[in-house]
Amino acid sequence: MVAKIIDGRDLANSQKQQLAEKVTLFVKKYGIVPSLHVILAGDYPSSQIYVRNKQRACQVVGIESVLHQFPGSTTQSEIEQLIEKLNLDDSVNGILVQLPLPSQLNSQRILEKINPLKDVDGLHPYNLGRLLMNKPLLAPCTPQGCLQLIKTVYDTVESKNVVVVGRSILVGRSLAVLLTNENATVTLAHSKTKNLKDVCKTADILIAAIGSSEFLTSDYVKPGAVVIDVGINRIDVGGVHVLKGDVHQPSVEKVAGYLTPVPGGVGPMTISNLLLNTLKAVELQKF
Ligand code: GUN
Repeated sequence: MVAKIIDGRDLANSQKQQLAEKVTLFVKKYGIVPSLHVILAGDYPSSQIYVRNKQRACQVVGIESVLHQFPGSTTQSEIEQLIEKLNLDDSVNGILVQLPLPSQLNSQRILEKINPLKDVDGLHPYNLGRLLMNKPLLAPCTPQGCLQLIKTVYDTVESKNVVVVGRSILVGRSLAVLLTNENATVTLAHSKTKNLKDVCKTADILIAAIGSSEFLTSDYVKPGAVVIDVGINRIDVGGVHVLKGDVHQPSVEKVAGYLTPVPGGVGPMTISNLLLNTLKAVELQKF
């Protein structure tokens, strides 16, 4: 079997096209240009690339984006003061703090400062709690993107056996909740899971959100499974950086039924969902 590739770029582009039309109508009707403020601290190369891509995508759909850049030595109160100011400013609709933050900062406290109605990343405890209660307002972007990719294959995940590997709040844990809300049977596996290969082999849908380059090889995959690769690992190959997922694509593509590539799979979907959340945030704030 050769896995069919699920093209995240294509899906994200069509989402952005539809969103651009909605933004145009919104601006015409209400005279408000949605505005996303991004906070970037330190000089992590990956974060700089992600933020640049997010800003470019904003431009494509007609959302204003403003970047607040801080040096790696910045303090907790500098970031918190900015967030307080942005919370009070009615012209600011979305606030995103790019993670990770420099190690001297308390990320959790910073995320909790954001007004939940401006929390376009869906990482405030209020929004995570709403997700847990199956009453989401703004849900995390990457998990939403993963679900949309899965739905290009299956109309519904109801009764599917899904194994999510990785329990981060940003992806694994939130995605497990999102899929449970959609009536999937979800196993949340992680680094302490016993017999991980056997567990993964039970999956109709296997999600790799581990953060370890090419970790999942074909012997973790049930023939015909849908495999979603959330990993974005920058690997140095002879002085050149290449992007690798958490899935060993050359072996897995021989066994899986469907597979998301890296790059061009989940990454673009995270961005399109950020834009979707930004328009949703404006609507939540105004109506
Ligand atoms: N760092 C890696 N992915 C993400 C994301 O989706 N949101 C934020 N804020 N930071 C990230």
